[in-house]
Amino acid sequence: MQWFLPLLVAALCAAPAHAATTSLDGIYALVQRQIPQHQDSFTFSLIEGDGDAFTISDTVGGSGGITVQCTTVSACARGLYTYATQFGGVDIWWTGSRLNQLPATLPEVGQPVDGSAVVPYRYHFNTVTFDYTAAFWDWEQWEAELDWLALRGVNLPLAWVGYEYILTQVFQEVGLTDTDIASFLSGPAFQAWNRFGNIQGSWGGDLPTQWVNDQYALQQQIVQRMADLGMTPVLPAFTGFVPHAMARLYPNASIVNGSQWSDFPSSLTDTSFLEPFDPLFATMQQSFITKQQAAFGANLTHVYTLDQYNENSPYSGDTGYLANISAGTFASLREADPEAVWMMQGWLFFADESFWTDDRISAFLNAVPGSDSMIILDLYAEAAPQWQRTDSYYGKQWIWCELHDYGGNMGMEGNLPELASAPLAALNTAGSSMKGMGLTMEGQEGNEIVYDFLLDQAWSSTSLNITAYVEAWVSRRYTVASLPASAQEAWTILSTTVYSNTNPNTQAVIKSIVELSPSISGLTNATGHHPTEVSYQTNTSIIPALQNLVQAAAQNPLLLTVPEFVYDVVDVTRQLLVNRFIGYYTVLVSEYYSSGATSASVNAAGQPLLTVITDLDTLLYTSPYYLLSNWISDARSLANGNTTYADYLEYNARNQITLWGPDGEINDYASKQWAGLVGTYYLSRWQTFVTYLADITGNGTAYDNTVLQAQLLNIGKAWDQEIWGQSANEPLTTVGTSMTVVDQMIQKYI
Ligand SMILES: *[C@@H]1O[C@H](CO)[C@@H](O)[C@H](O)[C@H]1NC(C)=O
Ligand SMILES: *[C@@H]1O[C@H](CO)[C@@H](O)[C@H](O)[C@H]1NC(C)=O
Ligand SMILES: *[C@@H]1O[C@H](CO)[C@@H](O)[C@H](O)[C@H]1NC(C)=O
Ligand SMILES: *[C@@H]1O[C@H](CO)[C@@H](O)[C@H](O)[C@H]1NC(C)=O
Ligand SMILES: *[C@@H]1O[C@H](CO)[C@@H](O)[C@H](O)[C@H]1NC(C)=O
Ligand SMILES: *[C@@H]1O[C@H](CO)[C@@H](O)[C@H](O)[C@H]1NC(C)=O
Ligand SMILES: *[C@@H]1O[C@H](CO)[C@@H](O)[C@H](O)[C@H]1NC(C)=O
Ligand SMILES: *[C@@H]1O[C@H](CO)[C@@H](O)[C@H](O)[C@H]1NC(C)=O
Ligand SMILES: *[C@@H]1O[C@H](CO)[C@@H](O)[C@H](O)[C@H]1NC(C)=O
Repeated sequence: MQWFLPLLVAALCAAPAHAATTSLDGIYALVQRQIPQHQDSFTFSLIEGDGDAFTISDTVGGSGGITVQCTTVSACARGLYTYATQFGGVDIWWTGSRLNQLPATLPEVGQPVDGSAVVPYRYHFNTVTFDYTAAFWDWEQWEAELDWLALRGVNLPLAWVGYEYILTQVFQEVGLTDTDIASFLSGPAFQAWNRFGNIQGSWGGDLPTQWVNDQYALQQQIVQRMADLGMTPVLPAFTGFVPHAMARLYPNASIVNGSQWSDFPSSLTDTSFLEPFDPLFATMQQSFITKQQAAFGANLTHVYTLDQYNENSPYSGDTGYLANISAGTFASLREADPEAVWMMQGWLFFADESFWTDDRISAFLNAVPGSDSMIILDLYAEAAPQWQRTDSYYGKQWIWCELHDYGGNMGMEGNLPELASAPLAALNTAGSSMKGMGLTMEGQEGNEIVYDFLLDQAWSSTSLNITAYVEAWVSRRYTVASLPASAQEAWTILSTTVYSNTNPNTQAVIKSIVELSPSISGLTNATGHHPTEVSYQTNTSIIPALQNLVQAAAQNPLLLTVPEFVYDVVDVTRQLLVNRFIGYYTVLVSEYYSSGATSASVNAAGQPLLTVITDLDTLLYTSPYYLLSNWISDARSLANGNTTYADYLEYNARNQITLWGPDGEINDYASKQWAGLVGTYYLSRWQTFVTYLADITGNGTAYDNTVLQAQLLNIGKAWDQEIWGQSANEPLTTVGTSMTVVDQMIQKYI
C-alpha cells in the first residue's frame, strides 16, 4: 500500500502521546449500531502507516462489500464516514442519524479513495459544553454524540463527566468533612465553572450524592466508548481549587483566594486555590490521578485537562510566580503519570489579554519543560487567535479551535472563508507547533455546517472549496431523490451571507434581543463578546433563503419527511422573526420618546413585539428540536421518579438558561429560543416592559431602569421555581405543523 501524503503532513504527524486502541471491535460495533442492515458489508483492517490515514475500496471478490484499510481506529471511523457521506449520500447529524438510509445495494467505490488527517489531533468540547449542552444527557444521548465525533475523525475529546466522584474522595482523604465539601461543589447545571474555580457552592440546594455517583457511572461508559472508538479521552486532574475549610485544616499551606467572577457574591466565588508549589498539591494530584487510573486504566490516556486561570486572575502577576505555578503544576502531573501531557484552554490569553502580556505567557508556558508536555487550545482562533503573538505558544503543541457559540445561543452566523484558510495557514507557517484542529463551542446549538466544515478541513491539506462543500453537504442533508435546485440555492445564499461573516465585531453567535431583559437602551447593535448587531441584510439573505426552501418543499413534498429539512426551515423562519423584532422594538422606543406619545400610543406600538414573540413560540412548538420541555424532561428523568430530586434538577435546568445565578448574576447568558421559554418567560418580560412604558407615559413618571429590572428579575425568580407542565400553556410535545405555520409567518413578516 502506497500513501501519497504531502510532505508537510508526514512532517507534522508525529505519533500523539497516547495509547489508542488497536482493537477493531469498537468500529464494528459502531457499524452495528448505526447501519445494522449492512453490518456484514464492511471490512476494516489496520495497516502500518504514518499518522491517521485510510483507503476505502470495494471488497475484493465482488461480494458488494466495502473495505476500509486504516492506520488507526480513528482513521477507520473516518474512512467509514467518507464512504457513507461521499458514496452513500447519508450522514449523522445533531438532529439524528440517517446512516441507516444507506441504499440496500451499497454503491461501489471504483478507484480506491485515500484520505489522511493533516493534523495528529482532532479535538472536541469546551469544558462548558458539558453544562450548556450535555448537563442532563443520558447514555443514549452520549452514544449518539460519540458516534458523531468518531465518524468525523475526532480522536481527542474532553471527558469531564463525574469528576466530582474522585475529587470528593481526595478531599475526604485530606480531612475535609462532607459539609466542607458540600459547601464547595456546585449544582448539576453549573459544574464547569466550579471546575474552573470561577464559582463555589450551590444555590437551590446542595449537590446530591446521587448525582455524583450516577455521573461517575456514566463517565465509565463514556470513557470506555471513547477508547473503543479509537479516541484518547482527555481526563481531568486536580487543579488546586479547594473548599475554604482547607485553610483552617492546613493553616500553613499556601492557599490564596481566586478572583471574583462576574457579579457573584463572595460566598459563591473567590474560590480557594492551593498553590502548586505547596507539597500538599502534589500529594492531592498523586491521589487523584492514581484513583482515576485505577478506575479507567493507567494507559487509557496521558492527556489531562487542567485550567487554573480561566476567567480567574492569578494571585500575582510576577513572572517568577507564574513560572513557579506552571512548573509546580506540571511536576505534579509528571510525578503521578510520567507520560502526562497538560492540556489547557487558551481563552484567558484573549479574554484577559491585559493581564496576560507576552512576557507573562512566556514565563508561564516556558517554565514547563519540553514542547510535547503541553497542548494549548487556541480557543477562539476563528476570530481572535493568540498563536501569532505567542510565537506559536513558544513551541508548545497547540490546537486551532473554533469557539463560535457562546452559551448555547441560537443565532445563525459563521465564517466559512476563514475556516477554509486560517487553520491551514497557521499549520503551514514556518516554525508552527500547531498539532490539531477542533471545536470548542460552548454549546452545540444550530449552525452545524460551521462545525462540520472545520472537522472536514482537518482531513484536507488544501482549502475546502466552499461552493462545492456546501452543495455536497446540502445534498446529503436533504436525502431525497431529485433535490430541487432551489434547496441548493437557499444554501448558496446562506453560505455567502450569513455564513461568510467577516465583520470582526460580530463573530460568534449573534444573540437576539428577544432573549435579553427588556430595557429602553443598550440592547440593539451590541458588538464584541455578545453581539446583537445583525451582520447581514435580512432582506437579501434570510428571506430569499426561506423562500427558496419553501419553494423546494412545494416542488418535492418528500422534503417534508426529512427532519433536517424541516429543522432548517423552522430555523430560518425563527431567524426572520427575531430579526423583524428589532424593527418593532426600534419603533416602540421612538414612539415612547416622541412628543405626542400617550399611554395608548405606546401600548399600541408595543403590541407587534408581543405578537412576534407569540408567533415565534407557535413556530417553535411545531418542531421536536426546539422544545424547552426536552431540556427539562432530560433533567427530570435523571431523578428516576424521585420528585424532590426531579424538582431540584428542574430548577438547575431553568436557572442556567435564564438568571444564571440566584440573582441574575450573568442573566440571559445561556438564553435559548425554545418553545415554552419564549411563550412564557420572554413574553411575560416584554409584556411587563410594554405595560411599564405605557404606564409611565400616562402618569408622567421618569423611566427608571433599576425599578424595571428589579421587577423583571422577580419574574425570572418566579419562573425558575415553576414546575413544567403545571400550566395549560405548556404542552410537553409538538403542536401544529411546521410548514403551515411557516407559510403564515411568511404572509405576515415578508
Ligand atoms: C505552622 O507553622 C508554625 C510556624 O512554623 C508551626 O509552629 C506550626 O506547628 C505549624 N502548624 C501546622 C499545623 O503545621
Ligand atoms: C478567602 O475568602 C474567604 C471568604 O471570603 C475569607 O474568609 C478568607 O480570609 C480569604 N482568604 C485569603 C487568603 O484571602
Ligand atoms: C502502560 O504502558 C507502559 C509502557 O508505555 C507499560 O510499561 C505499563 O506496564 C503499562 N501499564 C499498564 C497498567 O498497562
Ligand atoms: C516555587 O516557589 C516556592 C516558594 O517560594 C519554592 O519553594 C519552590 O521551589 C518554587 N518552585 C519552582 C519550581 O520554582
Ligand atoms: C469550487 O467548486 C465549484 C463547484 O463545484 C466549481 O465550480 C469551482 O470551479 C471550484 N473552485 C475552485 C477554485 O476549484
Ligand atoms: C444599528 O446599526 C445599523 C448600521 O450600523 C443602523 O442602520 C441601525 O439604525 C442601528 N439600529 C439600531 C436599532 O440602533
Ligand atoms: C426590507 O424589506 C422590507 C419589506 O419589504 C422593507 O420594508 C425594508 O425597507 C427592507 N429593508 C432594507 C434594509 O432594505
Ligand atoms: C429523593 O431525592 C432527595 C434529594 O436529592 C433525597 O434527599 C431523597 O433521599 C431521595 N429520596 C429517595 C426515596 O431516594
Ligand atoms: C406610574 O407607573 C409606574 C409603572 O407602572 C409605577 O411604578 C408608578 O408608581 C406610577 N406613578 C404614579 C405617580 O402613579
